Amino acid sequence: MIKIAPSILNGNMSDIAGTIAMLNKTEADWVHLDVMDGVFVPNITFGPKTVADIRPLTKKFFDAHLMVHDPNILLEEFAKAGADLITVHYESPGCAHLDRVIQRIHDLGIKAGVALNPATPDSVLDYILDSIDLALVMSVNPGFGGQKFIPYSLRKIESIANTAAKRGLSLDIEVDGGVKVNNAAEVISAGATVLVAGTAVVAAPDPILAVKELKGCGK
Ligand code: DX5
Ligand code: ZN
Repeated sequence: MIKIAPSILNGNMSDIAGTIAMLNKTEADWVHLDVMDGVFVPNITFGPKTVADIRPLTKKFFDAHLMVHDPNILLEEFAKAGADLITVHYESPGCAHLDRVIQRIHDLGIKAGVALNPATPDSVLDYILDSIDLALVMSVNPGFGGQKFIPYSLRKIESIANTAAKRGLSLDIEVDGGVKVNNAAEVISAGATVLVAGTAVVAAPDPILAVKELKGCGK
């Protein structure tokens, strides 16, 4: 079953509680938390305090996507704040020792993911694929919601899915950026198991229907 992970980034940032209350009415499985530091990406969003404050407002799985220069200084804080999974970027300067970063996330008792920017080949996941719970394929350049899906991302999703199948791994493959009802079916058939949907859900006139339609693309 495909999981839908709406991003609160695309909602009104002065009313995140309202966005969470709205998501609680939908069949969304996860809440995608886009954390940006203005260094790794040209935008700034929110940190662990915001996550801790919204944690009591929903039972949904918290999927923290750290688009930051050095995730190491934030891992413990996000775990304490209630993140169920932390995804770090392969390209973050603080991930030079990526294997150690993954181990640290697991030592905090939560799941670990690794994200790849559009231009990064999935071959960099070769040695760590067995140690992660999720691979995140960025299908736009990170920093902003509402961008257009980059078509070559499909080839990367397929490649990760094939390698995982060959090795008998059951990791999640999450796709982030420009996913909509009109491309969700091909993203899912390429091998995605989690769809991030910012604009497509949070900015939709009817988010309940939008989540239903996205889930329908996986049936
Ligand atoms: C981009 C973020 C995405 C984004 C998705 O840097 O990681 O999660 O908010 O938004 P849409 O679905 O509108 O592309
Ligand atoms: Zn994201």
